[in-house]
Amino acid sequence: MQKDSRPTDVHSGPSQGAIDQFVTGMAAFWQPVARSEDVTEHAIHPVELLGKPIALARLDGVLTAVLDVCRHYQARLSLGEIATIDGKQAIQCPYHGWAYGHGGACVRIPQFPEGRKIPPAAAVPSFLVAETLGLVWVCLTDRPIFDLPAFPEYEDPAFRVVTLDEDVPSKTASTRMIMGTLDDTHFPWVHEGILGERDKPAPPDHTVARDGSVLKVSYETMQPASLSSGGTTGADVGIRYDNEVHMPNVIRLAKDTPSGRYIVWLATCPVDHKTCRNFWTFARDYDLDPAQDEAYRAFSTHVRQQDKPIIESQRPWLLPPFWTQIEMPLRPGDLPIIEYQKWLEELGVGGEI
Ligand code: FES
Ligand SMILES: [Fe+2]
Repeated sequence: MQKDSRPTDVHSGPSQGAIDQFVTGMAAFWQPVARSEDVTEHAIHPVELLGKPIALARLDGVLTAVLDVCRHYQARLSLGEIATIDGKQAIQCPYHGWAYGHGGACVRIPQFPEGRKIPPAAAVPSFLVAETLGLVWVCLTDRPIFDLPAFPEYEDPAFRVVTLDEDVPSKTASTRMIMGTLDDTHFPWVHEGILGERDKPAPPDHTVARDGSVLKVSYETMQPASLSSGGTTGADVGIRYDNEVHMPNVIRLAKDTPSGRYIVWLATCPVDHKTCRNFWTFARDYDLDPAQDEAYRAFSTHVRQQDKPIIESQRPWLLPPFWTQIEMPLRPGDLPIIEYQKWLEELGVGGEI
């Protein structure tokens, strides 16, 4: 029997040190946590980011993100409601009614007698919060390493935009999710007949470069006719891909075909080290009839469902660092994902096992 040189605990998951490093590393970036439309004026919206429960609310129209744990006896604030205290909206705990305004300071303790001062320690941590591209973003540190990502086609009226969210989060690390979306040598295997053919497994000739906060990957290839290649006949279609990973958690695949441009865009939220919530957006500047949107959504859902069991099967959930040689990346085909992982490790996300 051939000897397997990998560590025997390869399936048992990462160590606590590796998990802590992932959480600390990812905390320094803007992370997508919710669709803007799901955070309404009337309710507190709970999310989870890197293991932290976070309550989102629009207080007097201004977005607020605080730790979803009451300072009094640690109840979930998001089970409460938005109340108006002295003319200003606040997040009110369901347990004893303490209320928190912008910045997390407590603005009301109902049990206090009239006139007694609320102690400054009666506060919950608040986080940087922003809104762009139809999503709410939170950063758990005071200074995000990179700016929020750009996505020019999202607001371009020449494009039809379709979004897609998962009913339940994916059981994998957000970094694996980005790698799986950047990886193209799986196309003929997982998406046979849609994005590739098994009798043509040769990888394309990738150009890979860093530009500011973005990893750029370009190549040319042929793919079967499909909605995403703009093809209507059975003939293969020539495609140029210009892909960008906005480090470390957003990816945009731009497919230019004779029919036009098709964008696959993913912002993935690290709910914890082995769970991610994926916000997909697709854009096209051809076949613009809104009645076609459902066909594009169904197409994307099908492709995502092909990927899901494979990506969720990868162990350990966190990327094992290069030095462990637990995984075996191969050049030249794996060059884009090798470069992604290399940069991740430089940014402090990964390195421990
Ligand atoms: S636990 Fe929130 S008010 Fe008591
Ligand atoms: Fe895939």
